[in-house]
Amino acid sequence: MQLSRAAGLGVLLILWSPLALRAQTFTKHVVVAQEGNAADVGRDVLRQGGTATDAAVATAFALAVTHPAAGNLGGGGFLVAYDAARRAVVTIDFREAAPKGATERMYLRPDGTLLPRHRAGAWAAGVPGTVRGLALAHARLGKRPWPTLVQPAARLAREGFPVSAELARSLNGQLFDPAPAAGSAAARKDDLSGRSDRLADFPESVAAFRKSDGSRWKEGDRLIQPDLAETLDRIAEHGPDEFYKGRTAELIARYMAGHEGLVTLDDLAAYQAKERAPVHTSFRGYEVYGMGPPSSGGIVVVQMLNILERYDLKADGPFAALTLHRVTEAMRRAFFTRATAVADPDVVDVPVAKLTSKAYADELARSITDRATPSAQLAPFPVLGAEGEHTTHLSTLDGDGNAVALTYTLEEGYGAKAVVAGAGFLLNNEMGDFNLIPGRTDTSGRIGTPANLIAPGKRILSSQAPTLVLRDGRVRLVTGSPGGRTIPNTVLWVVLNVLEFGRSPREAVDAPRTHHPWFPDVLTVEGSTWPPEALEALKAMGHRVRRGGVQGDAHSIVVDAASGTIHGVADRRRATAKASGD
Ligand code: DON
Repeated sequence: MQLSRAAGLGVLLILWSPLALRAQTFTKHVVVAQEGNAADVGRDVLRQGGTATDAAVATAFALAVTHPAAGNLGGGGFLVAYDAARRAVVTIDFREAAPKGATERMYLRPDGTLLPRHRAGAWAAGVPGTVRGLALAHARLGKRPWPTLVQPAARLAREGFPVSAELARSLNGQLFDPAPAAGSAAARKDDLSGRSDRLADFPESVAAFRKSDGSRWKEGDRLIQPDLAETLDRIAEHGPDEFYKGRTAELIARYMAGHEGLVTLDDLAAYQAKERAPVHTSFRGYEVYGMGPPSSGGIVVVQMLNILERYDLKADGPFAALTLHRVTEAMRRAFFTRATAVADPDVVDVPVAKLTSKAYADELARSITDRATPSAQLAPFPVLGAEGEHTTHLSTLDGDGNAVALTYTLEEGYGAKAVVAGAGFLLNNEMGDFNLIPGRTDTSGRIGTPANLIAPGKRILSSQAPTLVLRDGRVRLVTGSPGGRTIPNTVLWVVLNVLEFGRSPREAVDAPRTHHPWFPDVLTVEGSTWPPEALEALKAMGHRVRRGGVQGDAHSIVVDAASGTIHGVADRRRATAKASGD
């Protein structure tokens, strides 16, 4: 959530530009993603007759090349798909899992304090899920041959692509700029050494991402990634087993063994992507589908909608203090649920049906008054772990009405910052999404509750929330976002903007968002366009209000019911985002 003032200013300039009013419309199909070359790869797959899933898979592989901060082979994520022919929603969990050698206190010193630098390097990594997840999605809902979905990414890696101004800035920050000072907002919160790890700290990462002449990146330079191209070639030719049991697995295991990492050949061979039951609710006559555990995203979004359904938010409008109060109270309660009840469903019993029921929302809503409920009143301790800033979401829709919402991540930007020697891709640092200090909780957001403690083979709790909205068996909205804990709240705003406030697709994504995570007990409002009198009224109700920077980027698709027009809405909070379609 910490974003620089420059980034905040950037988004406002983007949102205020005349371009912001322009929606991109399509009649056949579309891919909306954070980076243009990758979106074009997906669009080409659709032109070749591929399904929405084929396009999502190809775009995700391409993002692993063109958007290395979050696009990945070494991370994991979630996919929610609509299979129009069967009128079925399919959800796939490819979240990272703890390696078998992981232990509850692995990131702690004997005195119970966190070890320094526990969120970088091989030992921060969970077993990657992305390649298995994309392969399972393709097997279930794809039509195009697997190699054709991976080869465009391999080509981008081998031949290179022109670096955007944003990527140049990001890579220079990782390779050249001094690490944030101890105690600064940008320094990693948990890192007791007070420093933030960067690509520059890992020789393999420097080799993968520096320019051949060693100079700083400039817009228009070409980023060529030969080792990554070879890895993608092997995956294209031999399928996902290559990554989990072949040469790539050997490279991962060798790097792990040499760098205190825990992931072994056994862990890789045992990893499975899993089809899970979607979570679902109805809202104003629409059907809303999201991702179940081990992500909390779907449960949180559904619970907030169930709570908010009882109010006529539209009558007051999105900028009214009363609307913001109600939305905040829904967020507070749903995040309490997330913190106390959601984790890996194969290890912990998560009562999904109850948590997503209208009856449970009634119960939660009973304590909402015209004053802010102090979060400590729901429970006397905070339970959430800190999450980073970099993840990416993409949305696809094909000509047959199939759609995919896919969110995946390395956790923080560039994940563990460590590239696997010889394989050219970054490892995730997702293990930090477990509750790292058993029993320790505090109001800053530190958490120690049992459900999400580290255990061998266990999936890590997530907030990712790829979401589909249907009506009468047809897709109306595809959305999702990065942003760690802010993700479900970003998705909530996009859904409310479309379904409740009737905003245009462009406005629905551009409009400012808010975030309340239960703890810390603070309402963060995005940007400076929220009316000051509404914010003052919220303070008078007892809310602690803080102005924040950019909240998420929700690359979405909205389909107009009457005309069938497809709106591809690239979120302008990220300048490189693109809707690519026909
Ligand atoms: O899975 C999660 O909830 C987090 N690892 C996501 C991190 C994230 O979104 C960072 N992004 N901007």
